[in-house]
Amino acid sequence: MKSTPTLNMVAKTQQGLEPLLAKELEQLGATQIEQHKRAVSFIGDKALLYKANLCLRTALRILVPIHKFEAVNEQELYNGIQQLNWEDYMDVNGTLAIEASANSHLFNHTQYLAQKTKDAIVDQFRAKHGVRPSVDLVRPDLRLNLHIFQHQCTLSLDSSGESLHRRGYRAEGNMAPLNEVTAAALILHSGWNGKGVFMDPMCGSGTILIEAAMFAKNIPPNHMREWFAFEGWRDFEPQLWKQVKQEAMEAIVPCEATLIGNDAVFKVIEIARSNARKAGVENELQLSNMRFEEQTPPEPLNGGTLIMNPPYGERIDIGEAAAFYKMLGDVLKQKFSGYDAWILSSNKEALKKVGLAASKRIVVWNSQLECKFHKFEMYRGSKKEQATAEV
Ligand SMILES: C[S@@+](CC[C@H](N)C(=O)[O-])C[C@H]1O[C@@H](n2cnc3c(N)ncnc32)[C@H](O)[C@@H]1O
Repeated sequence: MKSTPTLNMVAKTQQGLEPLLAKELEQLGATQIEQHKRAVSFIGDKALLYKANLCLRTALRILVPIHKFEAVNEQELYNGIQQLNWEDYMDVNGTLAIEASANSHLFNHTQYLAQKTKDAIVDQFRAKHGVRPSVDLVRPDLRLNLHIFQHQCTLSLDSSGESLHRRGYRAEGNMAPLNEVTAAALILHSGWNGKGVFMDPMCGSGTILIEAAMFAKNIPPNHMREWFAFEGWRDFEPQLWKQVKQEAMEAIVPCEATLIGNDAVFKVIEIARSNARKAGVENELQLSNMRFEEQTPPEPLNGGTLIMNPPYGERIDIGEAAAFYKMLGDVLKQKFSGYDAWILSSNKEALKKVGLAASKRIVVWNSQLECKFHKFEMYRGSKKEQATAEV
């Protein structure tokens, strides 16, 4: 890759998280930030590229577009790819992998598009050298991303490799773990400031709590990943990468939060503990095997933030979903005054049974499932006022 002082970059994300990602990018020092569908484009230098991979909590991967051209059929795609001199990007004995996506009536077979792109690159090397680079889907030297919208082709270098939601702390999952990026987004959506009490009373494998602990301590979420794709690039600067990492690790602050996680199932608490240990935040979490019905907030009762991702009664059998969600509302009313309580669920009917008026309702996608993230402000004082049932 040619060395450039500034790079055009695109951070990919989940649907609906674009505003959160744009804000994160602004805080990292990106400029010309623009939101698109499931993506945010921005400008910055190579250090920012490294930092974005290391520090963004709501990004899935960071792309660097290198070539835009038009094509209406596979041959034009092949020709467009060959317009680049691929020796600028990789060695003949290097390895590559290509991911393709298309939103076009002209192209629909994405695997074939990836293959055609690969052919165009390796044919160029073979014509010059008689030998060609090989494909490595696991850890290639060069990972490319091709996106076609109608007849507009955009070829990008993928600087991340494996999706950035794979932080590396979760080896085991329970029945329905949240994606790490979704969990981080819940925390950012809640507006929690990283201080005071933070509870997840149905914490499962602990994803929300681990992301909360990393947020509270300003720990770069991807600090334990072993490999980013940009490390295989020709212009990779190990010294710059070391400096970026060092600065991010030096910016970690002591935890000023009390992070409490409980779950009804003993085994998942053990999993949460093991995940927290891998993430380096085990000492920040207070984890117990306890049903929500038995839980009480810690003393002194100064309120706090509570985020829960209960069973939806759709993917997990919780029997009477309505009664279960009514119980959630009852326990919140009885014991959690002063708390901002957030519930994520795809079960809209059951959510109404919580029996509290939501002061915020945000759409959050949990994998393919459209969920609602509802905020219930548990005011101190009159329980009558807050017990307005939602209809
Ligand atoms: C959807 S999972 C939570 C997943 C979690 N956010 C994660 O990332 O792993 C719901 C969790 O609620 C727990 N649960 C169900 N009923 C409960 C109750 N009454 N009290 C506490 N936990 C409960 C289940 O054991 C399960 O771990």
